Amino acid sequence: MAKGTKRGPTNNCSFCGAPSRGEDSMVAGPGGVNICIACIAICNDMLGTGDKLIDKVRKSDKRAFSLKRLPVPAQIKAELDDYVIGQNHTKKVLAVAVNNHYKRVLNPIPESEVELEKSNILLIGPTGCGKTLLARTLAKILDVPLAIGDATTLTEAGYVGEDVENLLLKLLRVADGDMARTERGIIFIDEIDKIGRTHDNPSITRDVSGEGVQQGLLKLLEGTIANVPPQGGRKHPEQEYIPVDTTHILFIGGGSFEGIEKIIARRTGKKTIGFKTDAQAVDERALGDVLEMVEPEDLIEFGMIPEFVGRFPIVCIVRPLVLEEMIKILTEPKNAIVRQYQAFFKMENASLNFTEKAFHELAVKAIEKKTGARALRALIENLMLDVMYDLPSRKDPRKYVITDKMIKGDAPIVPDPPAAPAGEPTPAKSRPASAEKESA
Ligand SMILES: Nc1ncnc2c1ncn2[C@@H]1O[C@H](COP(=O)(O)OP(=O)(O)OP(=O)(O)O)[C@@H](O)[C@H]1O
Ligand SMILES: [Mg+2]
Repeated sequence: MAKGTKRGPTNNCSFCGAPSRGEDSMVAGPGGVNICIACIAICNDMLGTGDKLIDKVRKSDKRAFSLKRLPVPAQIKAELDDYVIGQNHTKKVLAVAVNNHYKRVLNPIPESEVELEKSNILLIGPTGCGKTLLARTLAKILDVPLAIGDATTLTEAGYVGEDVENLLLKLLRVADGDMARTERGIIFIDEIDKIGRTHDNPSITRDVSGEGVQQGLLKLLEGTIANVPPQGGRKHPEQEYIPVDTTHILFIGGGSFEGIEKIIARRTGKKTIGFKTDAQAVDERALGDVLEMVEPEDLIEFGMIPEFVGRFPIVCIVRPLVLEEMIKILTEPKNAIVRQYQAFFKMENASLNFTEKAFHELAVKAIEKKTGARALRALIENLMLDVMYDLPSRKDPRKYVITDKMIKGDAPIVPDPPAAPAGEPTPAKSRPASAEKESA
């Protein structure tokens, strides 16, 4: 048997008919048969040879669930500040929402007194501005399992793709089968805007509207006992299911909802506040201000069904990043990219610094790319490639100061003359004149 490459006459699984999803998704046998990984998992399960998640599932006492500590909103916000720059209002809303959610989970009040409803959260904002980062950081702070799923991989029953219950399977895996933790975890559903009704659909095999997926998610979002197929993929009748109660699972939806600003602007008549429809000229602050005015009806006009929108009572805007925030992202978060590079340089007996103007230039370039803070990493990686290539070849101490000219490509990236150790000549390469004018 060959993995991936050698295939039968078609690329479809000979057992379930699913098409190949690229390398490693299919194993080909002699005579032109193929089997996909989902069917292999089912065979493993039938023969008892697989990684049996179902055996790991611990029906632990739900009352045994506890958090090491439930931080108060101010603590959650302070910890988010360590990783996420800007987005202050959103961080505050999230801190309160998450604290309330776990208070509700940890102290069930008898229903006769007052019913505390679950508050799923929708994060709306442009790409690369911190939606996934916020969700990841929250899960880390709270020490609860977090599963990240992509709404575009989900499909309505009857179409090629994954059932919505696969989101729960992911969470169960992250929690390593601990049911109490699974049922109190966080599921982040990314690209939620892509299952909008009117959105052009990127997949030809999926239901054309995406509406069916929204329908499928309704029950999970609200709270239900869902039957989770232990091998993932499509549910099938012979299979054993793992029941998971979603009542206390916090769902966070994230999406860029590209173009929703136009719907909001039309409704509010706020076109004149400096907001321009020309994408190149959109002022980040003005766009953020328009987004802040989002109402459920805008989401419905965008293509989300009313029942779906209704199940996300908390809507937070993740604002486009402005220049000063981009500069801070370079250096301030605990895992800031510049800090990471500085650590690499230190390992090679070298040091790395940037001038203020260099940071400014990087931020300007990143904003032009319109991919949020992601552009920063790409820019720095490109910039440092040659240096990172040469750095480990030499062991003498070197000091690099990156200037705006180097970022513009007007000056080569070469070290400042090192404090030459006794007996060793200074490297032959000369230091660019530009570097002397700027201070580190
Ligand atoms: N506000 C921010 N503060 C610090 N870093 C950020 C911020 N926003 C984005 N980043 C950096 O950019 C990367 C990408 O951000 P993230 O994954 O959160 O984007 P996103 O909003 O989920 O975008 P998409 O809509 O494309 O999924 C993060 O891993 C992080 O390094
Ligand atoms: Mg994301």
